[in-house]
Amino acid sequence: MTIESLRWADSHLDILDQRSLPMRVEYLSCTTAVEVAHAIRTLAVRGAPAIGCTAAYGIALAAIGARHEQPPALRAALAAADAVLAASRPTAVNLFWALARMRAIWSTADTAPLMVDRLIREAVDIHRDDIAVNQRLGAFGATLVPDDANVLTHCNTGALATAGHGTALGVVRSAIEAGKRVHVFADETRPVLQGARLTAWELQHDGIPVTLLPDGAAGQLLASGRIDLVIVGADRVAANGDVANKIGTYMVAVLAARHGVPFHVACPLSTLDLAIDSGREIPIEQRPAAEVTGFGTERWAPEGIDVFNPAFDVTPAELVTSLITEVGVILKPDREKLLALARTGALLRETG
Ligand code: MRU
Repeated sequence: MTIESLRWADSHLDILDQRSLPMRVEYLSCTTAVEVAHAIRTLAVRGAPAIGCTAAYGIALAAIGARHEQPPALRAALAAADAVLAASRPTAVNLFWALARMRAIWSTADTAPLMVDRLIREAVDIHRDDIAVNQRLGAFGATLVPDDANVLTHCNTGALATAGHGTALGVVRSAIEAGKRVHVFADETRPVLQGARLTAWELQHDGIPVTLLPDGAAGQLLASGRIDLVIVGADRVAANGDVANKIGTYMVAVLAARHGVPFHVACPLSTLDLAIDSGREIPIEQRPAAEVTGFGTERWAPEGIDVFNPAFDVTPAELVTSLITEVGVILKPDREKLLALARTGALLRETG
């Protein structure tokens, strides 16, 4: 079975419900943009590229729901869906990138049937292109992975977090496809446990060797000299190369620098946000206290305790060895290199 985070079925979107993994593999069927936004907010679907694809389908569903309206009323319904989806999660820029692509379609198409048809096609294209993009960045990243490598990763950046193949885990998959032996060490990724529940399940499912560790063991592991490189994904990369990713990534980056281990960030160009000057301006989502005081129905922290639960942190560019993208590897990313990349037109092409 190939892992499919999303399945489009013409009039509905089936989302692999990541809240149930690894215990149950079940799909959640959505027919409205409100249902899609709820699935994003509650982490039924998560991971920056997957969130972007899902939001695009949310707009396609809104278009189908209002297909019998005149263009002005259809546009109003789409604008309302856009607002609901944009408010679902703040950090992953792929969400806003995908919504902007969808807006560009409905502001140009003039008849309702044409608008609906083109919006559906655009969402399907965003979904399909993401797999191709991950395969391209995976191939570039695989050149950085030595044979018999031990790779430390954080959060889940695989097929579950994307349309398929993955970003950081896509690099691992491509290295294995190129004949290299790779062993993944997966941080459990407190508090939502994307590493323990999702990365461990996904890699086991595909027969990729994986060892799970508590987040606090990463320092000991890096100090032991067993890790050849760290590869993580990203939710937003600022113009100066600062990287927002799952909470705990910054600690891993500092530890990797302390122990002289390369720290690579694999991300599609749709994760770059050159409108944001530095990581300090990236909006960081704060999640509910209940994620830290317990899990599911179980509670272990005392009632009334104050909780700090940011979902993401920012790793300064100076700690990043490379950005691995679908147009190549950017060593030691900085403002100059990212602006030079923008000047090539690659970002414009990606953002339509
Ligand atoms: O809160 P999540 O699970 O959506 O956070 C996901 C991450 O931080 C991933 O590392 C990131 O989106 C890159 S996924 C290819």
